[in-house]
Amino acid sequence: MGMDAIRQRTKELREAIEYHNYRYYVVDDPEISDAEYDRMMSDLEKLERDYPELRDPNSPTQRVGAPPLEEFETVPHTIPMLSLANGQNEIEVKEFDQRVKRFLTIDGDIAYVAEPKLDGLAVELVYERGNLVVGSTRGDGVNGENITQNLRTIRTIPLTLMRKEAPVPERLEVRGEVYMEIKGFKELNKKREASGEPLFANPRNAAAGSLRQLDPSITASRPLNIFFYGLGEIAGYTVKTHWEFLNTLPQWGLRVNPLARWCRNIDEAIEYYEEISHQRETLHYEIDGVVVKVDDLALQSRLGVISRNPRWALAYKFKPKQETTRVVDITAQVGRTGAITPVAILESVRVGGIEISRATLHNQDEVDKKDVRIGDTVIVQRAGDVIPEVVKVVDSKRTGGERKYHIPDKCPVCGADVVRLKNEAVHRCIGLSCSAQLKGRIKHFASKRAMDIDGLGDKLVAQLVDRGMIKDVADLYRLSKEDFVGLERMADKSAQNILNAIERSKKKPLAKFIYGLGIRHVGEHLSEILARELKSLTNFSRVTESELLAIREVGPELAQSVVRFFGDQRNREVVGRLQEAGLTIIETGVEETAALKGLTFVFTGSLVSFTRDEARDLVESLGGRTASSISKKVDYVVAGENPGTKYERARELGIKIVTENQFKEMVE
Ligand code: IVH
Repeated sequence: MGMDAIRQRTKELREAIEYHNYRYYVVDDPEISDAEYDRMMSDLEKLERDYPELRDPNSPTQRVGAPPLEEFETVPHTIPMLSLANGQNEIEVKEFDQRVKRFLTIDGDIAYVAEPKLDGLAVELVYERGNLVVGSTRGDGVNGENITQNLRTIRTIPLTLMRKEAPVPERLEVRGEVYMEIKGFKELNKKREASGEPLFANPRNAAAGSLRQLDPSITASRPLNIFFYGLGEIAGYTVKTHWEFLNTLPQWGLRVNPLARWCRNIDEAIEYYEEISHQRETLHYEIDGVVVKVDDLALQSRLGVISRNPRWALAYKFKPKQETTRVVDITAQVGRTGAITPVAILESVRVGGIEISRATLHNQDEVDKKDVRIGDTVIVQRAGDVIPEVVKVVDSKRTGGERKYHIPDKCPVCGADVVRLKNEAVHRCIGLSCSAQLKGRIKHFASKRAMDIDGLGDKLVAQLVDRGMIKDVADLYRLSKEDFVGLERMADKSAQNILNAIERSKKKPLAKFIYGLGIRHVGEHLSEILARELKSLTNFSRVTESELLAIREVGPELAQSVVRFFGDQRNREVVGRLQEAGLTIIETGVEETAALKGLTFVFTGSLVSFTRDEARDLVESLGGRTASSISKKVDYVVAGENPGTKYERARELGIKIVTENQFKEMVE
């Protein structure tokens, strides 16, 4: 055989194997015997062995066998991966339909597509000219983790798209849910039990745990599957409706949930929900509701996004799972804003696969309305399947020995007065130096999504506060190694680690800092908006109410809250001391002169002075971009210690390679 013929034979074998893979795993209707399939596979393996130049990462022989990674890289999503607003009942679903119509000024029916809401993990796959190039998790919606190696081990994910009637798009970003079937989940847990490994609480956790393995051979051993349901970017092919999109996907070999249905109007979508909720228990996988989406893509884009949720879709959730148990006690928990939450301590019970022993009672009104008493038998549920709450008391189980509960007049932690403001449902501790509030504020400041001070957990914060070593967040930056070494379970090394983490936190983007301050009503999303609009800490600390109100998405409550925060001398002082401590907040405003404007960076190997996330934040704050793989669009590759294959590839393409120190010079 000449080389051309060999190349051709290899291509045919790969296509045929992918096709039979699809028949076997996706359609569940094989056309050839296993023996025939194995023969094709071994023919292909032989060709690839004999002609190494023909090897290709997307060959069906390469699904498994990639070496373990050190860590996952981050990949930006071209189009953010959003989350969904929830509807709990028919009224809320009809309201959703009304909102859609009002927004579009349409009177008639809106057509929807309704689909089961799978309880798994959202992922995005990118195909270029039909080849799988990268697969990632949702991450924070903007950046995900590169888990390509792991996704490739899932047999129902094509490595190359099938070519049928629909032409294969130049570029396709397709989203879907990776999940584990209930049967596979139970078998996996049985095996783990036998070998003494910890069990997964539910199929979702098992799927998540399996996908986040650095070693793809572990992922390959887990029974994962995928349904596709969403579009990111598409180039070289047009679809007009979501329904058309769902119907096109299988032509490319991408698996779509057969239960998805086109609905003439919202009533049909509600009927669909009823049907699916009856079918729920018979399905082989777990679902927690149905997703209702406006069918017309042009309408979808007119509807757009509001606070990270598309206006064109709604998750219509099933009623949460419930269980019965007993209230052993009720305690008052003090949060960082002083809010006091009554918490029921329960005889522990499994709800929807998770062991729970505490449930929130929200506030005194709830306690009274539900008339929950210590000793009561109650029904508990995981609201939104996450935070456990008490639904109601089982009256028939009352013995007369139950005791009523009332939030105490004095804070159980600091003894200060507890007050309840007019128009507020919550009781608050007004203690200025309440240690529970302080602990809460510090934990919030140090949390991953704020200043990300790794290692500053509950126990450590409690010790620092209880020993009077810190009185506010600024004090964190005055702590020395000796301070830490004196604490429980603190060896020299862990003390150094925590100090390093505190030191690293000094260089954070403005948005994270704003969020970390824990100003009421200022969540993560709004922090980003404020940082983007106000650009510097100085501007932020001097902002007026009217300037705030001029920002889209900022309402009066938030504006007042920010102004009130900086109106307080003590807060200004803490922020001032944070600046003195050397917090060089990275200003978010990307000016025309931004140092790295328009430049794309790739990092490879391990960095000494930054984590990957920090390096990425830094580049972005200076107007640059980061990518996870090498292409001609990349301007600089920053090579840390033990750089990987990206280093070689950058050299091949003649891309500038800089050391970590050179990179530091660039950003300084
Ligand atoms: S569409 C912008 N369709 O639900 C809308 N999501 O709460 C993007 N999910 O992160 C999602 N099944 O993990 C969509 N048929 C389905 C889904 C689905 C499950 C998950 C997905 C997403 C989350 C949003």
